[in-house]
Amino acid sequence: MVSSVFQSPGKIIYGQGSTAQVGEETKKYGNKAMIVTGRNSSKKTGALDKVISSLKSENLQYIVFDKVESDPSVDTVDLGTTIAKEEGVNVIVALGGGSPLDAAKGISAMITNPGSIVDYEKKEPKIPGVPVIAVPTTAGTGSEVSRFIVITDTKRKVKMLIGGEALIPKVAILDGDLTVMVPPDVTAATGMDALTHSIEAYISKKAQQATDVQALSAIKLISKNLAKAVQNGENMEARNNMLFAQMQAGLSFSNASVALVHAMSRPLGAYFGVPHGLANAILLPRVMEYNRAACPEKFKDIAETMGENTKGLSLREASNLAVKAVKELYAETGLPTKLRDVGVKEESIEALAKDAIQSGSALVNPRKASLEDLVEIYKSIY
Ligand SMILES: [Fe+2]
Repeated sequence: MVSSVFQSPGKIIYGQGSTAQVGEETKKYGNKAMIVTGRNSSKKTGALDKVISSLKSENLQYIVFDKVESDPSVDTVDLGTTIAKEEGVNVIVALGGGSPLDAAKGISAMITNPGSIVDYEKKEPKIPGVPVIAVPTTAGTGSEVSRFIVITDTKRKVKMLIGGEALIPKVAILDGDLTVMVPPDVTAATGMDALTHSIEAYISKKAQQATDVQALSAIKLISKNLAKAVQNGENMEARNNMLFAQMQAGLSFSNASVALVHAMSRPLGAYFGVPHGLANAILLPRVMEYNRAACPEKFKDIAETMGENTKGLSLREASNLAVKAVKELYAETGLPTKLRDVGVKEESIEALAKDAIQSGSALVNPRKASLEDLVEIYKSIY
C-alpha cells in the first residue's frame, strides 16, 4: 500500500523564550503583519506584548485583529478577511488557543480564495493562503501544525470542519512560557483534547506508520505530564512537554484524522457552548469503551504507552487497561464527568446524535456507529 502524509508546517521552533523569534520568521514572508488573537487573554498574560515587541525589533508594520471569540464564527473570519485585504496584510501572526489559530488560518485562506469561509464546508480552499506564523498559548489543539480548522456557522448551529493544504501554517513557534498562566481547568480540558487527538489518530481507519509514531509519542508525554501541568502551572518541564506533545498529536491527526469523540463533541459545542476540550474529555472514556473491541491490539499499545503493565494478561484484559488509564488520568484533572454538569439538555440528545453521525470524523472511527449507538453513548454519560 502506498501512503502519503502532509509534512507540516515548514518549520517548528520550540523552547522557552522562542516567542522572541516571531519577528525574524515573520520578516521572511512579508512586511505587513496582522496579529490575529482573542479578546482578552493574550493581553492579560503579556503574550501579545511579546509578539509586538518582536515584530517591532524587525521594523515590521502590524495591525492587531483581536475580535476572535471562543468557537470563532463565519462572521469573525469574514470580518478579519475584509480588514486584512483593506490593510494590505501580507503575513499573519496567529496568537492564542485553538480559536484564534483556527480563525487566523481561515482568514489567511480567505484572503486568497474567493467567497466566504462558509462556502468551504464541503470543499477545500485550493489557493495557498497568506503565510501564517502560528504561536499557540494553550497546549491542546495542535492547530499550529494541522491542516484543519473548525469554524461555527451560528445561523445553522453547525461547527464546520474545514480542511486543506492551504490551511497549514508556515511556521509554528512553541514557547512554554506563554502557557504558564493558563488556569488549571483550561490546562486540563485542552490537555484532554490533545490526548483525544492522539488516541483517535492512533485508532483511526486512516492511521498509518508515519502518524502512529507521533500519536504514541504524544500519548506518552501527555500521560506523564498533564496532571503535573494541571496541579502546578509553573512546572516548566510539564508545560514544555505538554506543548510539544499536543503539537505531535496535531501532526498525527492532521493526516490520520480524529474519530467518533470529535464527531460527538462538535454538536455539544454548537448547541450548548461546551468548550471543545471539555466536551471531548467527557466523551473520551465512554467512547473508548465503545471502540475497544474493534481494535484491541491498538488499545493494548495505548495501555502500555501509558505505563500499564500488560504482562501475562489476555488481549481483552490488556486492552481494557487503556480505558482504565485514561479514566485515572481524567480523574486527576478534576474535570466534570457528566453532560448534565456542563449545561447539556437531555431532550436534545436525539438531535445531537443526528448531527454527530453526519460528521466525516464518524466515518473513520474503527467501529461503525449507528444513530442508536450515539444516543445510547450520550445518555450513558448524561
Ligand atoms: Fe480537538
